[in-house]
Amino acid sequence: MPRLIDDYNRIIDYIRISITDRCNLRCRYCVDGDFPFIPHTEVLTYEEIIRFVRICAPMGVKKVRLTGGEPLTRKGLPYLLKELAGIDGITDISLTTNAVLLADKIDELKEAGLKRINISLDTLRKDRFEWITCIDAFDSVINSIKKASYSGLKPIKINTVIIKGFNDDEILDFVRIARKWDHEIRFIEFMPFGDTSLWKSTDIITSKHTEDVIRSKFKLIPSLINGRGPAKVYNIEGGTGRIGFISPVSSHICAECNRIRLTARGMIRPCLFSDVEYDVKSLLRSGSDDAAIKAFIRDVVKVKPERKHEIGSIRKCQRTLRNIGG
Ligand code: 5AD
Ligand code: SF4
Repeated sequence: MPRLIDDYNRIIDYIRISITDRCNLRCRYCVDGDFPFIPHTEVLTYEEIIRFVRICAPMGVKKVRLTGGEPLTRKGLPYLLKELAGIDGITDISLTTNAVLLADKIDELKEAGLKRINISLDTLRKDRFEWITCIDAFDSVINSIKKASYSGLKPIKINTVIIKGFNDDEILDFVRIARKWDHEIRFIEFMPFGDTSLWKSTDIITSKHTEDVIRSKFKLIPSLINGRGPAKVYNIEGGTGRIGFISPVSSHICAECNRIRLTARGMIRPCLFSDVEYDVKSLLRSGSDDAAIKAFIRDVVKVKPERKHEIGSIRKCQRTLRNIGG
């Protein structure tokens, strides 16, 4: 069967699926005050998600990442993982979580087929964590990270959004954690999503800046694992652990883009930076057969934009990452 390929010859083999918009944190850069949830009936069921992935797999989709909101707030996640892991052609299933609820669930998640995990953590200081997430859950997150390390889930990637004046003085602390625990810390540029007042283009800490700070103390060696995908990954000389830079704001990562997103509401979003979404839920719920849905997905992939807006001037997207899944 022909692969999923867009008009710019990019092969799509990766789907990011937001399984819920609900979250147990209230990160200031993600939610702005009011936090209305999508009604349960509007959220894709596990059966609908499984069917979607089953339809995509024969078109060459190999990799699935489950995101949120916070995916661990949705019941029955091990069931979903097990079903997805059993689909022919799906070779890689991962999860992005804030880790608040992770410690108690690691064993069943691993048993269900989870191979890798990304944990969002922007600060190593308890008081700052409480400020940015508005919830007192720092100790749970740290406990989960330790437990995940001992459980053998590898690599553990930690997503850290660097925000000027908030955590830009912690860059080297994160590098030390990467070395000590053999983790991969991925520094992500702060992106202009949603209606949050925290983001100002003049305040952006670029990956270049973060990298310069790190290189003033550590020698970085390009990692052999650099592959497709937006992260530029380095080993740290003389130690374990890795450092990655994800630069959605300061550089063009679009030529390498290999993914589409499925939102909790059942919309396909071909580009993170464009609010244009396509309603596959209506097809899933109106008795369309697999062939019709397959044709729809191919059409959506075809119209994936070539690139995001010009460097430095990307406009704010209306939706927050809580709706899209990062
Ligand atoms: N800019 C960059 N990263 C963000 N995330 C959420 N909002 C933003 C933003 N505005 C990150 C979270 C998480 C991932 C899913 O997206 O920290 O790691
Ligand atoms: Fe939840 Fe992630 Fe949004 Fe924070 S950034 S409120 S953890 S969805």
